Amino acid sequence: MNLILPPDLDDPDERKLIGELLDACGFRGLDHVIDYGCGRGRWIWPLVERCKIVTGVDCEQSYLDTIATIAKMNDEKVQLINAMDLRSVADRSIDGIISISTLPIVRDGDLWHDFFEQAARVLRPGGRILFNTFSPAMTRHKMTSLEGLRYIQSNGWRFALDRQLGWIILWLLSSRGSIERGGRRHYATQAHAVERLFESKGFQIEYDPARLMRTTNVGLLPGYPNDPRVPEYHWWCVRKKEQQPHRD
Ligand SMILES: C[S@@+](CC[C@H](N)C(=O)[O-])C[C@H]1O[C@@H](n2cnc3c(N)ncnc32)[C@H](O)[C@@H]1O
Repeated sequence: MNLILPPDLDDPDERKLIGELLDACGFRGLDHVIDYGCGRGRWIWPLVERCKIVTGVDCEQSYLDTIATIAKMNDEKVQLINAMDLRSVADRSIDGIISISTLPIVRDGDLWHDFFEQAARVLRPGGRILFNTFSPAMTRHKMTSLEGLRYIQSNGWRFALDRQLGWIILWLLSSRGSIERGGRRHYATQAHAVERLFESKGFQIEYDPARLMRTTNVGLLPGYPNDPRVPEYHWWCVRKKEQQPHRD
């Protein structure tokens, strides 16, 4: 597909890597997929190339407007929903969801739970989610490399110390083994806590972060720094189980 894109969104190498990852995770030939937290649509176009109906969900209208303008320019169709969640989407109507770099910035435990609960409702059995989370190794690295203090010259001591202290607090919080409801600052989260959460909502692992890192080029995606020694992101592909967990 030869798309006309604004220069800041036009990165063919990144689109190629995104496409390869989507293929590896089974996002090809699906009827209806959602990009939750789609932003300005970096992942929308590789999805449009592969799946019949693509819906972008974001709470920022200006981002959705950008996608609508690009869709019009290219005579492509994308459904857009301005929302904080997936509540307006019908039960069992979706085959796949991607949510890229959105959970890490949604720091409230309630929203993490809500995302997987809503995903379990809207996905058909066997439906899949590709998403990423920040890795605790990243906060440890930022803390020990004194990254915050590098800002002294440009921003002054106070800002640099605040930032360094921020990394230390986030690192301490990242040792938690659960994503409790309402708890704040799930900035970097233990992999086993993420796993426990999606399993409790009826999902099973298709590809875990180590396997995706080993078998795909996800670590090369330009916008998502991922040195294999200090991965900033954990990437996950999970599937909705045929049998959902019993709810009281
Ligand atoms: C870091 S950006 C990632 C954008 C895009 N997925 C990408 O990888 O380029 C996170 C996006 O999530 C959106 N967002 C944050 N909280 C959200 C929420 N509760 N519901 C829907 N979108 C949300 C923001 O507006 C932003 O566009």
